[in-house]
Amino acid sequence: MKIEVVLTPAEIALLPQRDLSQTHAVVFDVLRATSVIITALQHGAASIRPVATLEEAWATRGGRPGSLIAGERDGLKVDGFDFGNSPLEYTREAVADREIIHTTTNGTVALRAVAEARRVLVGALLNLDALAAFLRSAMPEHLLLVCAGSWRWFSLEDALAAGGLMARLPEAEPTDAGTVVGLIHERYGMEPYKCLRSSTNGRRLVNIGLGEDVAFCSRTSSSALVPEMREGVILPPLKS
Ligand code: MLT
Repeated sequence: MKIEVVLTPAEIALLPQRDLSQTHAVVFDVLRATSVIITALQHGAASIRPVATLEEAWATRGGRPGSLIAGERDGLKVDGFDFGNSPLEYTREAVADREIIHTTTNGTVALRAVAEARRVLVGALLNLDALAAFLRSAMPEHLLLVCAGSWRWFSLEDALAAGGLMARLPEAEPTDAGTVVGLIHERYGMEPYKCLRSSTNGRRLVNIGLGEDVAFCSRTSSSALVPEMREGVILPPLKS
């Protein structure tokens, strides 16, 4: 298995130009988009449609009566949306059997950027063991780990998750980016909360009163779900 790691939004912006038809992509946005997606599906959401912009979100909702619209800008719920981007909002009572249109600053953009990949999996610390089991069985020739980042920048917590997944997979010769995420995982793999709490995003969330999200998103391998996006829609997940 050849494993490639993409660490920044600038690299993600180039992915739609590549032929990813033979690639399995895993998108990580630990704080918080992919943690939200896993949690919503865990709590029975019928589907999630990640979209890149607010305009697209409103237009998609216009064509899908009964759907919920969710996500964030600057970390906060958008005016008129049903939910923000805190996984704690996505309770069973709130989301069971509902279709959710989801837009965030980086996570949903990264998912859209790899929409043409052979398979697109949703990753976070929450589902690392399940993801690894899934990939050990699928054994793709080319695996692309996409760290969504934050605004224009690299994010420590996404690199931690990518490194954690690599550590759970059979030996693969690492690229330099793979070596970096491996080192981050060696340093913080046993202390995920410490890593997330000290990251730029973690501090930002604590500063806007969303510190509980940081603790929730640190719960490594607490979910057995491996959500997959097909034709732009994430449906209830495959179990490992
Ligand atoms: C993103 O997609 O940039 C994030 O999930 C941001 C956040 O949740 O605050």
